Amino acid sequence: MDLLTPPPDLYGRPRADRFLTRLTAIQDRYVQALGGPLLRRSPRRPLSRPAAQLQLVVTARRELIADVIELSLADPSGGQLPRWQPGAHLRLVLPSGRERHYSLSGDPADRRSYRIAVRKLPEGGGGSVEIHDTLHPGARLTARGPRNGFAFCAEPTVLLLAGGIGITPLLPMAREAQRHGLDWQLVHVGRSADTLPYADELRALDPHRVVLRTDDEHGGVPTGAELLAPAPRGAAVYCCGPAPMLAAVQQALDESPASALHFERFGAAPITDGKPFAVRLGTDGPTLEVPVDRSALDVLREARPDLPYSCHQGFCGTCEVRLRSGTPDHRDRRLTPEQRAAGALLPCVSRAAEGETLVLDV
Ligand code: FES
Repeated sequence: MDLLTPPPDLYGRPRADRFLTRLTAIQDRYVQALGGPLLRRSPRRPLSRPAAQLQLVVTARRELIADVIELSLADPSGGQLPRWQPGAHLRLVLPSGRERHYSLSGDPADRRSYRIAVRKLPEGGGGSVEIHDTLHPGARLTARGPRNGFAFCAEPTVLLLAGGIGITPLLPMAREAQRHGLDWQLVHVGRSADTLPYADELRALDPHRVVLRTDDEHGGVPTGAELLAPAPRGAAVYCCGPAPMLAAVQQALDESPASALHFERFGAAPITDGKPFAVRLGTDGPTLEVPVDRSALDVLREARPDLPYSCHQGFCGTCEVRLRSGTPDHRDRRLTPEQRAAGALLPCVSRAAEGETLVLDV
């Protein structure tokens, strides 16, 4: 995800980021003056475009670290797979019908195999556990994609910041940066060395450009300033990790020499200024209160545990419900104005004004 275009839809972030707004305005002035792009934006495609459906077979499975498996996926007939670029993800449709997104961690030059890594989250929504329990070599599954909401723009100077399993989209970026002779560095952070997958593969690219930074050796988690310290002036930063890591990097960006931040986070962004509202399940159903610090999806799933979801960030569309009445505050990045006007709503990110009741078909 490209922070050059500040997401208008994240929980509690209706205002654009001031740094990015200034950066974008400066960029646009230069673009007009020079007649061309000064900073390349991510070649993001509209996420609302339907993704291709693929039939895949698991061809290999291995344990990377404790609770993290890597799956290799291929066309069952041995054919070539659709092309992808670093940062792309695949949307898996699991045997249960759950849909989950996983970044591609392999080499885009390999057209015969996709590679994903999956951390088992027993307290999650069941998707990762299902994958660990059921997907072994020979298993068939459906997928959509690949799609890319975190495109690598191959700027001349690049700092890649990965938190734990967040290394998966950044590994192909490092490979691409090395292949093109870019000035790149990668910092991979985690609790301890045994929580960092792909360490050997990264070192094999260039051991001098890779830093593995663990909390147990450094007495705690790194600050945003520490994470950004290796950034040379003008570097483009790509960050993938948990929400607190991302927040730390965003806060420290103004004081760093970096020029741009592209990011992808795990799961939902924190809700920072949510207002309480309510959702009603049909015109005669119960009314559920959505507090300031929870999403409508979380509240709905208590009453409808089978309500599907995937990204929690308003881009996949899996959680779509139909709005019967009420005035929503759409915060997604997927629905078109026409779809919204027709009643589509993504409750993982969308909210409503204080005291409002949204009546939903779920
Ligand atoms: S879960 Fe992906 S859009 Fe709501």
